[in-house]
Amino acid sequence: MSTPKLFTTGWADYELIDAGGGKKLERWGKIITIRPEVQAYFKSGKTFDEWYKMANWEFISKGSQSGSWKKLKEFSPKQWEIQYKKLTFQLQLTKFKHVGLFPEQKINWDFISENLGFENRFLNLFAYTGAASVVARKEDATTFHVDSVKQRITWAKDNMELSELDRIKWVHEDALKFAQRELKRGNKYKGIIMDPPAYGIGAKKERWKLEDKLDYLMENASKLLQKDGFLILNTYSPKIDLKFLERKANNHFRNRHFEVKELWMKTTTGKELYYGNLLRVGG
Ligand SMILES: C[S@@+](CC[C@H](N)C(=O)[O-])C[C@H]1O[C@@H](n2cnc3c(N)ncnc32)[C@H](O)[C@@H]1O
Repeated sequence: MSTPKLFTTGWADYELIDAGGGKKLERWGKIITIRPEVQAYFKSGKTFDEWYKMANWEFISKGSQSGSWKKLKEFSPKQWEIQYKKLTFQLQLTKFKHVGLFPEQKINWDFISENLGFENRFLNLFAYTGAASVVARKEDATTFHVDSVKQRITWAKDNMELSELDRIKWVHEDALKFAQRELKRGNKYKGIIMDPPAYGIGAKKERWKLEDKLDYLMENASKLLQKDGFLILNTYSPKIDLKFLERKANNHFRNRHFEVKELWMKTTTGKELYYGNLLRVGG
């Protein structure tokens, strides 16, 4: 059996410098952050003294959902930009410990670039600040970006404009409802990426758990996919392990080539950090 580990990497403007002791040290362009990381249960490569000498900001959790940023160096912006290839993404400190990009997704951005072409239809569900949408639009794909939170769509528009692109189709709606309506309209896609959170927020602010909606999401996505299309599904929920995901993939994509992998990234100091599971169909 092939190894279930797939390693994603950083790039010029993103580096996972170190991890350990429940935290990770990352460089985004010139700005260095320290953020909590439950998967970093091992000892860090560098000492925390070394970390604090390097970092601009540290996120301090208050409860499991939010917290605040502590400034560690005097000249540290709260908002800045980084590049990925020729694309530009705006980053800012959010109260949910994120800065507006999930850098482990780089492996999926590269896959999308390789597999999409002119006027192919591409669907980004749970699209957040739109990194995958911008990558797809750069390949001239007809790109649909769906997110239920308005501020995320505004942020994604900024990323599109900063990257000197246009005409992404913005859909402010529940991803499941949009997928269902697209099915009724008979639309198909060459590429679909879904990055659902462990807990979704519906159009009417109702909350759902991913493990309850996963079948429904996968079924709709499988029907929306062109025969030669590709699908990427990321899961971060501890309830969805590799075996569970593989069983679901077998149910919904029996006749397609697919792979189920754990997503990992190595730190510059040589540690390995786990980033959830990944299903890829086609491509
Ligand atoms: C884990 S983030 C996605 C990260 C993103 N794909 C990336 O790599 O940049 C989850 C996103 O799903 C959105 N979301 C949560 N529930 C949703 C729902 N029911 N329908 C559409 N979007 C939803 C959130 O607003 C958030 O932007």
